[in-house]
Amino acid sequence: MKLSPADFPKRKAEHSIISMVTCYDYTMACLVNQTNIDCVLVGDSLANVMHGEENTIPATVDLMALHTRAVHRGLQDKFLVADMPFLSTRLGLYRGTKAAGKLIAAGADSVKIEGADGNLELISHLVESGIPVMGHLGLTPQFFHAMGGYKVQGRTEEAKSKLIKDAVAMEKAGCFAIVAECVPSDVATAMSRAVSVPVIGIGGGSAVDGQVLVLHDLLGLSSFKPKFVRHFMNGADLVKNALNEYDECCKNHTFPAAEETFTK
Ligand code: KIV
Repeated sequence: MKLSPADFPKRKAEHSIISMVTCYDYTMACLVNQTNIDCVLVGDSLANVMHGEENTIPATVDLMALHTRAVHRGLQDKFLVADMPFLSTRLGLYRGTKAAGKLIAAGADSVKIEGADGNLELISHLVESGIPVMGHLGLTPQFFHAMGGYKVQGRTEEAKSKLIKDAVAMEKAGCFAIVAECVPSDVATAMSRAVSVPVIGIGGGSAVDGQVLVLHDLLGLSSFKPKFVRHFMNGADLVKNALNEYDECCKNHTFPAAEETFTK
């Protein structure tokens, strides 16, 4: 059954782990829709994964809406979250609300916002306006330049306390769940203990309330494999082998066969 925002804290209270994956296109959405996955994210990681960019910063609201629409068309039975892209939460309440509205109109059930500082008013406003919000703390890729690249966050006591404080503030502002990316497991666990909404980890260890991975990473479609990623299949080899087999069959005249050929 499709989750609602209210189900997220319930699932945490029941110690029922939430599984989440990213998805960016219609065909994959149709496949994800036929699985037991609980929740789907149209992440701004689509800038990297689908468009070959170095980071998520080039993602725009229009690009997020385009991919959200495609995923929505294939995904009737899963709760769909769409990322608010770089700066879209930073241009005032009116523009932030308009951007979130565009993603909801494209078919998202909720939006995700990176960082607590400066975003709490918008989060409360969206929640009061009927737009559920998922928070995102720890390694927040939209801060790529400010962080000086992608680094594990929360390694000092001060940084740990700030993450816990931010998680509490995001829950208070109305977030129904919070992603914790690339933080030591004791930090992610402490964040989870501090709030009643689920903390969904990516590189946050196993003692949290859910896990999220980039779909193409877990399918092993590229050689990208940071410490927290597991390849649940070797997608790159499967795809390359199929393409090489097709190439061979074209060249040795075994494709197309008679049954793949029209006759009069
Ligand atoms: O954009 C994304 O894929 C994300 C996940 C890493 C949580 O935000």
